[in-house]
Amino acid sequence: MLILGIETSCDETGVALYDGKRGLLAHSLYSQAHVHAEYGGVVPEIASRDHVRKLIPLLEECLNKAGCGRNDIDAVAYTSGPGLVGALLVGASTGRAMAAALGVPAIAVHHMEGHLLAPMLEANPPAFPFVALLVSGGHSMLVEVAEIGSYRVLGETLDDAAGEAFDKTAKLLGLGYPGGPAVAKAAEKGDPDKYRFPRPMTDRPGLEFSFSGLKTHTRNLFQKHQNEPNAVEDIAAGFQKAVVETMVIKCRRAMKQTRCEQLVIAGGVGANRMLRKSLSEAGRKFGWRVSYPRIEFCTDNGAMIALAGYYRLQAGQTEPEIIRARPRWPVRELASLA
Ligand code: KG4
Ligand code: ZN
Repeated sequence: MLILGIETSCDETGVALYDGKRGLLAHSLYSQAHVHAEYGGVVPEIASRDHVRKLIPLLEECLNKAGCGRNDIDAVAYTSGPGLVGALLVGASTGRAMAAALGVPAIAVHHMEGHLLAPMLEANPPAFPFVALLVSGGHSMLVEVAEIGSYRVLGETLDDAAGEAFDKTAKLLGLGYPGGPAVAKAAEKGDPDKYRFPRPMTDRPGLEFSFSGLKTHTRNLFQKHQNEPNAVEDIAAGFQKAVVETMVIKCRRAMKQTRCEQLVIAGGVGANRMLRKSLSEAGRKFGWRVSYPRIEFCTDNGAMIALAGYYRLQAGQTEPEIIRARPRWPVRELASLA
């Protein structure tokens, strides 16, 4: 079964072709980041228009790379939500229309299920059950995954998502957009222990996250010390270390609580090298296996959507012939596969 995956929930246009037997055949990605950079963040209307401009050329490119034609496609999986409504509508209407024209089924995929299953695209996929640390621009959560489609949210953020905290910190420090990679780069030249940062929500039990206090702390520190040499780099390094250490503590708690032996890191913040390194070290120390997708499949992409769609279609799920965009779609409302 050859699945076309389409991702347009935010500022990346992603297309992929996944074959049930042969695995990922090809994927193509276009990032709009440079378009939004001058505004300091994603401008929804510009994002929608840019998806319209890029989606079909990317699809042609991806088919060429895979050596396939449109008629080889057996089903279309598109990101239905959560995300920006206008951006989602571009992928949803294109995907649904293509499926109708080709006479094949379409499936509306949950963006976070895509992130969560992305490590399954790798050669040595994680084993079930596992705990997933899902950290992106819009979400931060720990999820217990018994099997595909069976998700129990163990804890989530009470305010900002981890990626959002990186983006806001980058803006404050004048590092531009997108913030995560910019903060990580500046942090390489900084001393993470120069200033003191809190480890939010670690002094009490529970698996919730909160990043707004850390954000305020960072702003106050910057206002006070901005004229000191290397302040930007030192604050970036201290902030990154605080976020990473907080996540390691929460992951350790979640692993203990669930008695799982497999941890999965997914979502855009999963591209952070310090986070990957620190969780791998914790895994070695405490005896868990740690899996993550390759860096390019941590951030938004079409491959994870094709894969999640494949599993749902395999389980016999399809969609009625309507265009479904769900800007808000809690993980808790995801249907099980059975
Ligand atoms: O998963 P994603 O591409 O989109 C959403 O679903 O939100 O995640 C994007 C987020 C952004 O907030 C970005 O700043 C963050 O992931 N990010 C990073 C890194 N690369 C991307 N955060 C920290 N370190 C990185 N290297
Ligand atoms: Zn995402």
